[in-house]
Amino acid sequence: MELRNFGSTDLTMSVLGFGCGTVGGLMVRAEHKEMLKSVEYAIDSGINYFDSARMYGDGLSEIHIGAILRELDVSDALVGTKVRLSGSEFNNIETTISTQIENSLQRLGAETVDIVYTHNTVGKERKVDDGQVSVEDLEYVVVAFEKAVKSGKIRYWGFNGLGETDAIKSAVNLYSPSGIHTCYNMINPTSGYSVNDTFPYQNYGELLNECTKKGIGTVGIRILAGGALSGTPDRHPLALQEVAPIATGGTYQEDVDRTVSYKFLVDEGFVGNLAEAAIRFAISNTNLSTALIGLSNFDQIQKAIDFVNKGPLPGEALDKIRKLWFVA
Ligand SMILES: NC(=O)c1ccc[n+]([C@@H]2O[C@H](COP(=O)([O-])OP(=O)(O)OC[C@H]3O[C@@H](n4cnc5c(N)ncnc54)[C@H](OP(=O)(O)O)[C@@H]3O)[C@@H](O)[C@H]2O)c1
Repeated sequence: MELRNFGSTDLTMSVLGFGCGTVGGLMVRAEHKEMLKSVEYAIDSGINYFDSARMYGDGLSEIHIGAILRELDVSDALVGTKVRLSGSEFNNIETTISTQIENSLQRLGAETVDIVYTHNTVGKERKVDDGQVSVEDLEYVVVAFEKAVKSGKIRYWGFNGLGETDAIKSAVNLYSPSGIHTCYNMINPTSGYSVNDTFPYQNYGELLNECTKKGIGTVGIRILAGGALSGTPDRHPLALQEVAPIATGGTYQEDVDRTVSYKFLVDEGFVGNLAEAAIRFAISNTNLSTALIGLSNFDQIQKAIDFVNKGPLPGEALDKIRKLWFVA
């Protein structure tokens, strides 16, 4: 599997990253043997980045990925996790973040973690009830992150690139994170492509490209629009049954309906199905360090690896996809 530089860090990440979140549910709700088989297969296929968070399954995702990597005796996989402020924790940011890092390390069973991200959305103003941090709040987070780097608890830190586009860009410019999570898919590609004013969803203003220019590693999320880009509303039994879209349609069903426009990719023989199109679309952007996907079972990781091994989409398919974004 292709490895890409993670910004200007010394990390190289597999172009396909293993999502340990709750949308797919594998690393939170599956049986141990299914998790083990999936992680082992991913590692044997060259995947080296596993993305977790304290919020996923209330700590279960961190516990499971840490334990399974130990069981497989894998010490060189890269693990990322996330901290998140809520409620009164906004009054004590630095201490809260330091404590959360300690707790994540305990759950992971590790002495150090490769990268820690903020999980809160970012805005101009702090909005406690919405879990949104202000650009100023991030200053205190960064102090805690830097202390954790100095003490060897974390190697790198980054931000969640969700929230208000201008605020995210201000935070990136002010604090120079090592990495950023960014929403990127065929329905909302604005982190990687410029679109016109008729584009119907949030415009991330080429955040992905700006970060790449600054030497910031980029982690693509919502590559499958939470599953909607599979083209069907059916959810795997272990998956989150109600998925809230991020920067695409108002509902999951709206996103599924939108995928009809992309069926030509299958009809014209560019791909075998829409999930393949979504994953190969993401890796076609060489500015993206790693494309994370959410997984419900072994079959999905196996298929995703097969798709990635076919390489980026052909230029002709990308040109045709691009034309769709300029339709109001
Ligand atoms: N920074 C953040 O705030 C943030 C937010 C979201 C996600 N993330 C990270 O990104 C990861 C990915 O999650 P996501 O929310 O972005 O979801 P996603 O990857 O866009 O979608 C995941 C869904 O895609 C479907 N799928 C996966 N592989 C498939 C395949 N081979 N064929 C057909 N369908 C397939 C599954 O749906 P079914 O189960 O219904 O089949 C799965 O639940 C998370 O685990 C997490 O690590 C981070």
